[in-house]
This record gives sequence, structure tokens and C-alpha cells, in this order.
Amino acid sequence: MPLMRLDRIIAAAGTASRSEARKLISAGRVTIGGRAVTETGFRADPAVSAVCLDGRPVGGAGKCYIMCNKPAGVLSGAESGSQKSVIDLLPARYAGLGLFPAGRLDKDTTGLLILTNDGDFCHEIITPRKHVAKRYAFAVNGKLDKEDAAAFADGMVLRDGTKCLPAVLEVADSDASRGFVTLFEGRYHQVKRMLAARGKPVRALERVSVGGLELDPALTPGAFRELTENDRNKIFNRNVTK
Ligand code: URA
Repeated sequence: MPLMRLDRIIAAAGTASRSEARKLISAGRVTIGGRAVTETGFRADPAVSAVCLDGRPVGGAGKCYIMCNKPAGVLSGAESGSQKSVIDLLPARYAGLGLFPAGRLDKDTTGLLILTNDGDFCHEIITPRKHVAKRYAFAVNGKLDKEDAAAFADGMVLRDGTKCLPAVLEVADSDASRGFVTLFEGRYHQVKRMLAARGKPVRALERVSVGGLELDPALTPGAFRELTENDRNKIFNRNVTK
């Protein structure tokens, strides 16, 4: 699709007239890929860029990408009726956008959770074929050693016979009950099951990065922000500008 002026994109979506759109843009209420654009003549491709007004996609059908620091005690998706999920923590303007997590976290797991309504983007993150690394900080009962790291690197077989892809176990020098696990797939309770299979049950688990995108240290538990285009590129380590 050809590039269009931002005020025209907003007007074409039926969100506002062109003159109203220019006021909204000047007031900093319009974002592209999570970044405010205040130049009314800015040009973008509406088929590609996630244009939002007050955080909500214009035209109602736009794509939305959010990074959340998931707190413990809430679900990562909205599938289970009465229980509170991360979606319930978001402001009302995100309701009805069809957001879902790009890779679930357990209720007691904290850290980087990406929410989106873009199914292709989600698939790229979670499919083992793309090798997008998911890195977790953990604490276990017991001490880990080089044999545990070698078992992870070999591709572990879990207690139920599931064969895992090779994974990376880094044990902290200062405390052998802590470290990082990097996975290239996302099976149910995978980190907990891998460490349990080594006789080291998990006490705490936090996702710290997905691909090259790290959890924003400015986000306290429960806080969120929209992903920029650069953030999204970081996940796949492509065209990253900083
Ligand atoms: N592995 C787990 O065991 N739990 C999570 O939440 C994520 C990865």
C-alpha cells in the first residue's frame, strides 16, 4: 500500500475528520508502533504500521503489541473466567482488542510477557522453527553443577518421556542454586519440569528476555508499555537501530 499522510489514515478509518485528526496528532495522542508522532504530515503505510489513538488502534482493527512485567498470582491469558489475568490489569482502552499472550507464563512466574492481537507475530515468537530464545532467571532448591548444564545442552528427556530441544543452563558463580535457563521452545511448565528432572525443584522463575528484547527495567510488576517497532525487531534480532 502507498504511504499516506497520518491525518488521512485517521480520517479514512472513520476515527475523526482530517482537521480533528491534525489536532489529535499535534496533541501527541497518536502513536505509530508505540511512539508518539506529532507531525501531521508524517507518512506511513496503514497496512503495516500500528497507528493508535490513545493507545487504541484506529479503525478498530489495528495491531497492538504490549510488553508487560507480569506479577505473580495472575494468569497470562484471559481464558479462565473467574481468575484474574494480565489483560485485567490493562487500562479499559485495551479491552476488546483481542489481546493474547505470545507465549504463556505460569501463574506464579513473573517477568516479560508480550501481549498482542497479531497472530503471525505471535507464531513467529513461539514456533521452535524460528529459534527465538526465551531466557529465564531461576532459583531452585539444591545446587546445580556442570553435569546439569551438560544434560540441558544434550536435550533433556523429561519424566514423561518428552524430548526437549538443547537448552542452555548457566549457573551463578556466587550461588549454585540460582542462574539462567535459555529455551528455544515453550512447552508446558518446561523450565520447572527440566529442573525437577535433575532433582532441583524451582522456587522462583522470572522471564527476563525474549529473543534480543529484554524486560524493560522501568516496568514494575504489573506495569506495561507498548512495544516500539525497534522493540519488535529486537525480538528477532533484525534491523535493530539501538
Ligand atoms: N517454564 C515454566 O516452567 N514456567 C513458565 O512459566 C515458563 C517456562
